[in-house]
Amino acid sequence: MFSKLPRHIAFIMDGNGRWAQKRGLPRIYGHAKGVKTVENVINLSKEFGIPFITLYAFSTENWKRPKEEVEFLMELLREYLKSNLERFKRENIRLSFIGRRDRIPQETLRWMEKTEEETKYCSAIWVFVAVDYGGRDEIIRAINKLLKEGKKEIDETTFKNYLDFPPEVPEPDLLIRTAGERRISNFLLWHIAYTELYFTDTLWPDFGREDFVKALEDFSKRKRKFGGLDEEVDS
Ligand code: FPP
Repeated sequence: MFSKLPRHIAFIMDGNGRWAQKRGLPRIYGHAKGVKTVENVINLSKEFGIPFITLYAFSTENWKRPKEEVEFLMELLREYLKSNLERFKRENIRLSFIGRRDRIPQETLRWMEKTEEETKYCSAIWVFVAVDYGGRDEIIRAINKLLKEGKKEIDETTFKNYLDFPPEVPEPDLLIRTAGERRISNFLLWHIAYTELYFTDTLWPDFGREDFVKALEDFSKRKRKFGGLDEEVDS
């Protein structure tokens, strides 16, 4: 169906608040509906044979939102993991998290770690959820680890090993941002050097199969050159 498929898709899940506001509902309803899209996108990616996806669930800047919204998002994540962990295992879905771990509420963190541990042998798709994640923060944490180890000089390959993704995860081939904004918002700064960008006006809670297929079709037509002259594959 597609001449080529991305191996890794990153998603900036934007527009939950607007989705709710358009319906005269509090913003948190948009986040709750957004979880259904998360579910759908995991299933679609699995169906199309995409081995890695990364979802931007909570940024290092999102702590600035009202306390109730922050608490709701952390509870939403915890409840989502709690009620889906058995299904992830049954459906062979591996989940891991990128981002800081030192500011996450204890119960949410406990479920994150439990999910990581209990799905670590699942192999149909590997889903990364970015929680308290910032691209700059990830780079600074990596540098601090290097400094602690007394490193004086490093190269790109070594540096990559200090970032949040395990080394076997390929860089995203495609980044999809919903809800009309055309910016990166501190997501995966190091990893998206050669990523194809795709923006859609669809709000995250409305993002469905058709939007997903449209993004894949668009990607399959892109010529990727990685700085060279012909299409080539990075590895
Ligand atoms: C951006 O929309 C969305 C977020 C900051 C939260 C995303 C979280 C979820 C979809 C649910 C939790 C995730 C998992 C993996 C269970 P926004 O609130 O900035 O929307 P707006 O720009 O319209 O206000």
